[in-house]
Amino acid sequence: MAKPIIIGNWKMNGLSEEADHIVSVLLTYAEQNQNFAPTVICPPFTQLYHIRKHVKNTPYALGAQDCHIAEKGAYTGDISAAMLKDVGAEYVILGHSERRAEHKESNELVNKKAVAAYKSGLLPIVCIGETKEERDSNQYKDVIANQIKGSLPEHFNGLVAYEPVWAIGTGVSAKNEDIAEVILFIREKLVAQYGENGKKTPILYGGSVKPNNVKDIFAIPELGGVLVGGVSLIPEDFLQLVTIAQ
Ligand code: G3P
Repeated sequence: MAKPIIIGNWKMNGLSEEADHIVSVLLTYAEQNQNFAPTVICPPFTQLYHIRKHVKNTPYALGAQDCHIAEKGAYTGDISAAMLKDVGAEYVILGHSERRAEHKESNELVNKKAVAAYKSGLLPIVCIGETKEERDSNQYKDVIANQIKGSLPEHFNGLVAYEPVWAIGTGVSAKNEDIAEVILFIREKLVAQYGENGKKTPILYGGSVKPNNVKDIFAIPELGGVLVGGVSLIPEDFLQLVTIAQ
């Protein structure tokens, strides 16, 4: 069985000193350990170029946290997928619930971003997941089905991350049986949409993943890995996830 992938989303954290510290701990681990689970770090845009120089030729891959739909042009303040590729990113997180909520990103926009990412040679990590209200009112499957249908492009080669909004940054992960139910539901939808290819798409879980709950999370059927926020900023804890995934 393939080792689960561990993806660290630093969100809007990581001034130079902190970024250098995290990366140096990760590099020391890589020198002492071989054949570990695929690991991706997604720092803010400002650190990508600098970190790329350090993680080149190491087991760590680099990802970004968003991209624009256009390749280049008059889009002040935006960053294109081609630019991310240019500074060494291989992945890009798209449609994170924080962007859906704060930047009003729609499924349609996320879909276009996924197309742009793929055209530039990046693997999109498309995030989906319901809010607390949607869970409590038992609408979560409809929400997730809509997000899959709307956010994933006609031809999709990437990863899907299930992040229930109510489990993000709370310290309380979703219950394993709830995660398992949704992961299987996502798999069914992917197979219905993409046939054989839908069987291969890695489905990740994110939301308060920690060293003390990750082992049980990895045991969930069809789960391809985890997308980690807070713990990715504590390199010793993040590396525990990597160790457990081995
Ligand atoms: O993208 C990862 C994220 O939203 C989960 O954050 O802090 O709950 O691990 P956290």
